[in-house]
Formats: sequence, C-alpha cells, structure tokens
Amino acid sequence: MAGRPRFYLDHAATSWPKPLGSLEACIEFQTTNGAASGRGVYQSAEESSELVRTTRQALARLIHAPNSIDIAFCSNGTQALNSAILGLLQSPSMRGCHVITTATEHNSVLRPLQLATHSCGITWTAVSCDETGWVDPNQVLIAMNAKTRLVILNHVSNVTGAVQDFRSIAEIAKRRGAIFMLDAAQSLGYLPIDVVADGIDIVAAPGHKGACGMLGTGILYVRRELQELMEPVWIGGTGTQSDSIDGPFDWLSAVESGNCNLPGIASLKAGLEWLEKQEPNKKLQVWSGEIIDAIQQTRNLHMVGPIPNDSKRNRLSVVSLICDTLSCHEMAMLLDSACGVEARSGFHCAGLIHSCLGTQEKGGTLRLSLGHTSTIADVEAAIAGIQILGTM
Ligand SMILES: Cc1ncc(COP(=O)(O)O)c(C=O)c1O
Repeated sequence: MAGRPRFYLDHAATSWPKPLGSLEACIEFQTTNGAASGRGVYQSAEESSELVRTTRQALARLIHAPNSIDIAFCSNGTQALNSAILGLLQSPSMRGCHVITTATEHNSVLRPLQLATHSCGITWTAVSCDETGWVDPNQVLIAMNAKTRLVILNHVSNVTGAVQDFRSIAEIAKRRGAIFMLDAAQSLGYLPIDVVADGIDIVAAPGHKGACGMLGTGILYVRRELQELMEPVWIGGTGTQSDSIDGPFDWLSAVESGNCNLPGIASLKAGLEWLEKQEPNKKLQVWSGEIIDAIQQTRNLHMVGPIPNDSKRNRLSVVSLICDTLSCHEMAMLLDSACGVEARSGFHCAGLIHSCLGTQEKGGTLRLSLGHTSTIADVEAAIAGIQILGTM
C-alpha cells in the first residue's frame, strides 16, 4: 500500500482518517492505563471508570440527554439496535404488538424485527420510501393500528443520504402512544439531535462514524421510564451484585455486561471533544453537490437520491449512483484501480430500500460518502473517477 494514492470515500461505513486526537487518546489510554473500568478499586481502574463517566457526559451533551447514565456503550450500531429492539420486544408487555419501520432501514433493524416475529409474536410493517429514499410521514400515520407500540426510523439513509422528517414521525408516534426509536447511524455527529425537544425515546448509533471514535464503539440512549420495560438481551459480569446469579439487573449493567472497549471509549471522548470545537461544516454539502453535478453531466451515469437544494428533501453527503454500462462492483473496482478512490458497491446492508429505488436489478448502487475529515483532494479524485466511468 505504501506510496499508493488513496482517496477514502466510505465514511458512511466508518469514518477515516479519525481526527488525530482520537487516535492519540486511544494509544495513550493503552500505554499509560489499560485497566478495566467498573471493577477494581486501584487507581488506574478508578481512572478508567472516570473515563467512562466523562465520555457518557460528552455524549449526553451531544444528544441533550437529561442524564448521562441513560446512555450505554455498545460495540457498534448493530449491537445497540439489537439491544434496544430485542430488549423491548421480549418484554411481556410488548409481546404480540405491531411495529412500524421503513423500507430505508439497515439490516440491523430489519433482521431483529424478522427474528422477533418468530420469537416474540410481533407483526411489523415497513413503510415504503420514494425513489430518493425519502419517507412521507403521512404513510407512517396510515400504517398505524391499534396494536402499534413502536416506531423505528433511520434518520439518514445510508444508501441515498436522504434525511427523514424525524420530528414529524416522532410526533405521530407520540400522539398514538407508541415508543419512537431513532437509528442515528449516519447522523450522529453531523445533524443536531435533542432527545427531549425532538421527542425521541431511544437513540442507537455507532460511535465510529460521525462521532469519530474507533471501530468497535456504539451508543444506546434509552429514556429512563422505558428502561424497566427492557429485558436483558445478554447478561454476565457487571461488576455489581457479583455474589448473585439472579436478577433483576439494572438496564445499564445488562447492556454493558462484560468489559467495555476502553481504548475505543478514549478515542470516542477525544473525537467528541474535537467535534465540539468544529464550526458547522458547509463544505460537505458543497462537495457532495459537486460530485452530484459530475454524475449528472455524465451520459451513462444516474444519481440515486435527493437532488441538492430540493426544498422538500434534505440530504447528507452520501451519494449513490448507477451506470448503464457497468455493474456497481465494476465501477468500484475501476475507481480504485484507476484513481485510488475507495467507494462501496452493492446493497449496503439495506435489504428493502432497493426495490423502492429501482436498484435491485442493478445489484445495488455505487456509494461515495464524505465525512468530517474528507479533503478537496478526495472530491477531485472522485470527480476524475466519475469522468473515467463516463468513457466506459
Ligand atoms: C443506517 C445504519 N444503521 C445501522 C448501521 C450499523 O452500524 P454498525 O456498522 O456500527 O454495526 C449502519 C452501518 O452502516 C447504518 O448505516
């Protein structure tokens, strides 16, 4: 790899490079401390517990959570979503209920729901989206029935970048007495989230994308009143009540059973501190607009997703495209070999959206995604790559 130009446009998968402080904090923790948290009473173990406590506080500031201990650390977004979905649906009071979600969801929502149809007797409806990946909130209202107890929404499509009107959907859920869960995988660290003002009961997200932590980090916020409802999805060492094998175990201990990823949490804290100092990044909108222009000017390529400056449909810097003459995997290989542009091809772990976008037959899309640390060189390389695709 040494010497080969490399332009990373896969921030929707995980952000890279991380801000330098995030990497340094990870190394510093591992070289100067390295002890587990919430267990020992010696000084470095206490310092690890303090690191966990202060990182929770930084996350609480980011999403305006009233209390930082309503936020649990997980290994990734998938684990956070599974803990929330299965934890809730295994609760006796939720058995047999109806769940509404959308066709834009990631498989880390769709697959647990499918599992829960068999294990918890639930039914669920995936409200469809339009050809840009946008969900009409009225469709959520129409899908409601007397048994609907939970609404799960992907804030920003990881395929098209479409930003959903989550406040309207949260309001609909609230009016009908349903719990509202937001998958903030693509938005945490990019868009404002205020769990109280926005009426969000549960937020699940990776820590390794927009929040700038290392891979292996994730977060789950659950509103205090709902925590008692949730069944533990796994349970083991919690550092509390260690002489007992019977519960009840509190929600946070159960979700965080086992040792936490302290190097990852150190990186996440530094990433969040870095984010707190950043001005709103307008460049990402401009740069994704330039990439979209290049696609639209190329005769054999078609952008999939909201057009920039659409007054009704907002977007983030995740850009998908298809080609008349090449498969999406062929496009990805060509971009990499010709220009060193690293972009993702395929269905992007989103099992339902492609039939709404018309990209099923194409084997999905080619996705170019920018993030906090993207540079103009990444954008120029992507545009050069798009021009090459246009000659195929
Ligand atoms: C919308 C969405 N939800 C959930 C996830 C799962 O997150 P993780 O990869 O951290 O498990 C992703 C990952 O790309 C995602 O894009």
